[in-house]
Amino acid sequence: MKTLGIDIGGSALKGAIVDTKTGKLSSERFRIDTPDNLNPAEMAGAVKAMAENFSWKGPIGIGFPGVIEDATIWTSANLHKKFIGCDGAKLFGQATGCPIAMINDAAAAGVAEMHFGAGRGFMGKTLLLTLGTGVGSCFAYQGVVTAMELGHFPWGKQGKSAEKFIAASVLEQKKLSWKEWGGRLHDYVAVLETLLWPELIIVGGGVSADHDKFFKFIKPRAKLVPAEFFNNAGIVGAALWAAEKK
Ligand code: BGC
Repeated sequence: MKTLGIDIGGSALKGAIVDTKTGKLSSERFRIDTPDNLNPAEMAGAVKAMAENFSWKGPIGIGFPGVIEDATIWTSANLHKKFIGCDGAKLFGQATGCPIAMINDAAAAGVAEMHFGAGRGFMGKTLLLTLGTGVGSCFAYQGVVTAMELGHFPWGKQGKSAEKFIAASVLEQKKLSWKEWGGRLHDYVAVLETLLWPELIIVGGGVSADHDKFFKFIKPRAKLVPAEFFNNAGIVGAALWAAEKK
């Protein structure tokens, strides 16, 4: 069973063909940089180029950084605002000629981690956070993943989205030390624990490769572990989602 998984992110589109039986990539990863803020038509062109790169004709799973209901995109905090209200299956389906399954990017990462990564076999309450341009989140129980928008939890005096204080992009932009950033994450995770009581917390996003530098500043009740897929979780999870939905 092979499916093309695509992860649409803040600065690039990443894709690969995934063996959905094993969760392993069965092709090289292909990356298309998107330094400009692409509108939906331009993004559809990039998705088409991605499918063409693999000469792909078959189901495609696409992870998108926003609220997804069925295939409709309802929010786009860090991408072009014209995505809001778009039917992703139609937009990307017309561009590629392939059936499309849409999923939130963090939920895709959660699907990959619960099937084949840090959460495999775990049936308890699991919170997954992805730290990148924004903060993605999902919750799993009995292995079933639900997308969440915990990155938009009101934070600070003005009640801005928490991701404006704790995303990995903030660590770089504000040149925070690992300790300062880890302290922010500690406070945030403490609030989420009060509300959700997860037993396992999985932290993903590129920065999770450096988990030994900041995990020591987060002191949760739950077991805290880095994601196992690092950068491929979104690709693999989107492909699994498309394969499951058929
Ligand atoms: C979006 C989420 C997304 C996260 C990570 C947030 O700004 O609202 O849907 O999962 O960024 O990309």
